[in-house]
Amino acid sequence: MKKVRCYRTCSATLSKRKIKVLKTSSGMPSPTRVDSRQWPRVYGCRVAPKPTRPRQNVSHNQQPKPLVAHRSGPLSGRVSVPGDKSISHRALMLGALATGTTRITGLLEAEDVLNTAKVVEALGARIHRRDGGIEVLGRGVGGLVQPAEALDFGNSGTGCRLMMGVIAGHDIEARLVGDASLSRRPMRRVLTPLRQMGLGVLEDRETLPLTIRGTSSLVPIEYATPVPSAQVKSAVLFAGLSASGETTVIEREPTRDHTERMFAYFGAEVRTSIRDGRHAITVVGDAELEGRPVKVPADPSSAAFLAAAAAIVPGSEVTIEGVLVNETRTGFYTTLREMGADVTFLEPREENGEPIADIRVRHRSLKGVVVPAARAPSMIDEYPVLSAVAAFAQGETRMEGLAELKVKESDRLAATAAGLVANGIGARVDGDTLLVDGRGKALGGGTVVTHMDHRIAMAFLILGLGADRPVEVDDITFVATSFPAFSGLMTGLGAKLEAK
Ligand code: S3P
Repeated sequence: MKKVRCYRTCSATLSKRKIKVLKTSSGMPSPTRVDSRQWPRVYGCRVAPKPTRPRQNVSHNQQPKPLVAHRSGPLSGRVSVPGDKSISHRALMLGALATGTTRITGLLEAEDVLNTAKVVEALGARIHRRDGGIEVLGRGVGGLVQPAEALDFGNSGTGCRLMMGVIAGHDIEARLVGDASLSRRPMRRVLTPLRQMGLGVLEDRETLPLTIRGTSSLVPIEYATPVPSAQVKSAVLFAGLSASGETTVIEREPTRDHTERMFAYFGAEVRTSIRDGRHAITVVGDAELEGRPVKVPADPSSAAFLAAAAAIVPGSEVTIEGVLVNETRTGFYTTLREMGADVTFLEPREENGEPIADIRVRHRSLKGVVVPAARAPSMIDEYPVLSAVAAFAQGETRMEGLAELKVKESDRLAATAAGLVANGIGARVDGDTLLVDGRGKALGGGTVVTHMDHRIAMAFLILGLGADRPVEVDDITFVATSFPAFSGLMTGLGAKLEAK
């Protein structure tokens, strides 16, 4: 155990006294020579950056790392995948907004979430590891403080957009930055309702970098979201915690509902109802949240890669343990079943107000299906890997209503179609619809351009496990944003992956 000296502001809500803390941290590099005030904070301590990890964000400056997937024999095993990304971001933010301690177990320790953790610390909450979990010592709603530096969200749209809602209700100014992919993504969808509530935006732009100014006197609104986006809904609801009155978000199609579930769990007053066939979610402002234990379930979007691999490779049987099966997230599994895969949710149970189960997938021959637009929000991150599965089905798979895929970490609609075509699979985009011509097999042999997009990289590695010829992805660096253990878990199941 090396000792790391760390200086910080006491984050007990009432005390702003500077205190000096001596912390221990295992495995951290020795703090020599460099001015320690320049070190990044990780879980409450300033730590010296490792020589290979640039300070701002690991993904900015690294050399591309290509990886090749080879046709593999039957995959089998029982595995756990890391914690759900959506719930991990929200647990950190709610922990910061609660009073007292929020203990999080199973937090996804991937770059996107670690960036949110650093941002939460920069806003004055304290985070540290204890007994195999992460503890957040919150400052209460309205208690976050002015950050000293720009807040870097790396590759994460969820971290950035939700945090805009959090900051909106505080009397602070913050500069928000991200990597090249995040800096291309639309922010107006979040800024429009937040401006109505009182958020100030200093630049006349809709992309990062942006400087925003929150206020302690936010106005509650009723907002009908023009796009089906849990990020937009959640940003408004997070702001609504600080507004004086009731804030309501109305959505045509239900999107993932972790924010409203977790608000209720942390003690906020939340109501949901159906209005003219649309979903209305209301949060009562001036909320007081209390720190709670959060056990993060396994991420169904990460599990989808393993499930898809088992569905593609003949003779496979894979079980993924403790996966979140909230029905706002399970559209992919419904679709796999409709295609003919043997998908079973074993031992369904509930944790922290969320349903979970072990998901078992066995290979069966697959057929093409129509995936209706109404299902898109419940599987929005799974279309790239579903497209890989569709290549191995007999017949056409038609995926409708995919406009939102164009504004993810990359234009996933274009990137998915291009990756399929590069590997000899008939695919085309028709408006917001993606069509894949399934022939029961895939030729492979192509190189896929991943465009800084973790899910494009993983989806095409899965394709390669069943293709006749190897499939290369040009860069797996960004897999670390959501699923650092991906390659290890896949090879453990029998997948043949080879670094180039
Ligand atoms: C997320 C919502 C989705 C999803 C993203 C995580 C969330 O984005 O694609 O990976 O945690 O709220 P949109 O809400 O923009 O569709």
